[in-house]
Amino acid sequence: MPTSLIPALDPAPLPGPPWLFHVLWVLTFFIHLLFVNTVLGGTLLAAFAGAAGAGRREIRTLFVGVNSWAISLAITFGIAPLLFVQVVLGRFFYTAAILVGWAWFGMLILLTIGYYLNYVAKFRLRGGKDAGAIVALEAVCFVAIAAIQVTVNLLHLQPGRWEQVADRAWVALGDPPSCRVSSTSSWRPSRWPGHSPPSSRCAGPPGEAIRRRCEGWRASE
Ligand code: HEM
Repeated sequence: MPTSLIPALDPAPLPGPPWLFHVLWVLTFFIHLLFVNTVLGGTLLAAFAGAAGAGRREIRTLFVGVNSWAISLAITFGIAPLLFVQVVLGRFFYTAAILVGWAWFGMLILLTIGYYLNYVAKFRLRGGKDAGAIVALEAVCFVAIAAIQVTVNLLHLQPGRWEQVADRAWVALGDPPSCRVSSTSSWRPSRWPGHSPPSSRCAGPPGEAIRRRCEGWRASE
């Protein structure tokens, strides 16, 4: 394992008991996923509604309308687990995010584009115009965001892959058999809706990372 890529433990103590951060992390991540599933599923359904005959305009209008609040809530409830993952596994998460920095940064751009496309679609539908291509593009943005999230969230739990990814960032998209600790640790579209709460990370590399962090706390006490 390239230990040199794992940053030193932050000497600042945690501002509360570790279990509290874990509980809040799982809880807020769960809420994030409820809205992520609403946004991802709704946008894809709105995009594929084009294949339906009668009623497709109503389907699109419904899901584009739902998106106008669900996207905001997905973002808001994404920030909370982002803060907790930084508290609990910060040095692993930062390194992974930096290793695929352009993709991580690109997520913000995709999010902004997807968000505004939803408003364009909403106003076009309200004006009686078609919005099929716009909704399809919006769906591509959200699916890409989900793929980036899965990539980063797998990578920060697999320090053994960092060295390779540091050389070639696209390797992060790979799914080597050695990394398939469980069905929740593999990089594949079935994972994109986010059925992988942090609580499932109690075995294999995730548990290892958490254990290491806890040992670090104990050592620093
Ligand atoms: C609508 C846009 C978004 C989509 C489609 C989305 C999708 C996802 C998915 C699929 C996961 C699961 C990744 C995995 O564990 O394999 C995830 C996790 C996560 N997302 Fe989002 N996300 C979105 C927006 C955001 C935003 C804006 C933030 C931050 C401000 C955010 C923060 C997080 C965090 C921190 C996790 C990991 C939580 C954890 O495992 O502890 N997400 N997201």
